[in-house]
Amino acid sequence: MGSPGSGKSTLAARYPSTWCLNLDTYRALVADDETDQSATPVAVQIQDLLLDARLARGLTTIVDSTNLRVAARAGLLARAAHWERPVVAVLFDVPLATVEAQNAGRDRVVRTHIVRKFHRLLPTVGQLHDEGWPTVHLASTLTRPTP
Ligand SMILES: Nc1ncnc2c1ncn2[C@@H]1O[C@H](COP(=O)(O)OP(=O)(O)OP(=O)(O)O)[C@@H](O)[C@H]1O
Ligand SMILES: [Mg+2]
Repeated sequence: MGSPGSGKSTLAARYPSTWCLNLDTYRALVADDETDQSATPVAVQIQDLLLDARLARGLTTIVDSTNLRVAARAGLLARAAHWERPVVAVLFDVPLATVEAQNAGRDRVVRTHIVRKFHRLLPTVGQLHDEGWPTVHLASTLTRPTP
């Protein structure tokens, strides 16, 4: 869970690429544009299909999407429960100023008001526990990636 520019894909890139599901990738496959929000519903369907396929095989899977909406997180918990697989949340508790600086310094810059809107949706650890995430890791406590 984390706003655009908070470092989700950077962390995910440390794991095998086949483990990682990412809506940006599927929007690009659907619409030739990873930012085209009109492609999001189909991208979510693709993500759900792959998530089910992998969880059915008991494969570790990283959902590298913002996951800042309660409904999106509930959907992930439901899929994991269906396949009786454990879940771990990684909360990108990155201050807004850091997120804005990281966002500004990359190729695909997300508009500032969108970053702020998403950042405001960041849940607390307590909120995630209440929703049913037994384990929550804070990105701020993880080792920073080697440049
Ligand atoms: N721990 C870090 N320290 C410094 N820079 C970082 C760190 N994590 C990520 N960055 C940089 O921040 C920028 C945004 O990171 P990244 O693309 O991983 O964000 P994201 O959460 O996947 O965003 P989006 O939701 O838009 O895909 C990148 O340029 C990345 O190199
Ligand atoms: Mg990303």
